[in-house]
Amino acid sequence: MLIKRPDDLKASEITPRPLYLGRRKLLVGAAAAAASALLLPDLLGRGRLARAGSPLGPLKKSPLSASEALTGHKDILHYNNFYELATDKESPAKLAHLMHLRPWTVRVEGACGKPRTWDIDELLKAFPLEERIYRLRCVEGWSMVIPWVGFPLRALLDRAEPTSQAKHVELTSFDDPRLPGTQARVIDFPYVEGLRMDEAMHPLTILSVGLYGETLAGQNGAPIRLVVPWKYGFKSAKSIVRIRLVEEQPVNTWQRMNPREYGFYANVNPAIDHPRWSQAKERRIGELFRRKTLPFNGYADQVAALYAGLDPRKLY
Ligand code: MTE
Repeated sequence: MLIKRPDDLKASEITPRPLYLGRRKLLVGAAAAAASALLLPDLLGRGRLARAGSPLGPLKKSPLSASEALTGHKDILHYNNFYELATDKESPAKLAHLMHLRPWTVRVEGACGKPRTWDIDELLKAFPLEERIYRLRCVEGWSMVIPWVGFPLRALLDRAEPTSQAKHVELTSFDDPRLPGTQARVIDFPYVEGLRMDEAMHPLTILSVGLYGETLAGQNGAPIRLVVPWKYGFKSAKSIVRIRLVEEQPVNTWQRMNPREYGFYANVNPAIDHPRWSQAKERRIGELFRRKTLPFNGYADQVAALYAGLDPRKLY
């Protein structure tokens, strides 16, 4: 990964939330005024959902939620890895307005009886949303606690009626050459991730469409992204456009770019070092001292059994 070890988050580089919200309100207000002037109620409705930071309504909190202090909303919005936009942590928030979030479709296809192209707004209405508070541990050594809003990936896969050939799931992100990172081909695009079928169907694995009760900001993977809390953050593909049920194990982006450092499983494991650094500890964004990283990022009770008999070295 083009990863620098990001030890210090520069407070000066974070736009204060009131400023950010003020700016957003202005932009959003101008867009809404333009749309209503055109008397296009349908488009206005779509626009409401398309906007990052729109409230998602009352949400049930999942019992699968972690009960730790949440990382600040501002930090989650301004400390991102999103190579389609940029390679540093602060630029994705500044460049996310360049993302075209509507129209947006997600194609579910491959080894299944009912392939389908979902319009994102249809998809948002089809599955009940809930709040899931999860730890996210990045392979670079930082972590966050994020109140995601989403629904189990399983719910969408079940609708497709997977066949017995569906042994893995391949998730593909968008590939929009208008975006600076994509244009510069800083890595191979589109970004691809993969899961084994049992991982994809696990109740902890979700598709997220929001956080902190609002639709996702572009830099966090709008309009829809994967979240697999027991794996390093790079497994959580952002801005997904295709989900394919396949037999063979997919080759994910980082594995293809750097097979010496990245594998397929990427389960959080403090006992196995990254070839260039230890994974024993992590820095929770917003905290001063490092804390110990937990096996499977603290979700061992729920997921360790999935890997019984597999060499833990392979699990990275
Ligand atoms: N998905 C896409 N499409 N492009 C990316 O660059 N970065 C990954 C992952 N998903 C990435 C992606 C990495 S390395 C991490 S750590 C997480 O997204 C970061 O998610 P966050 O910015 O919402 O914390």
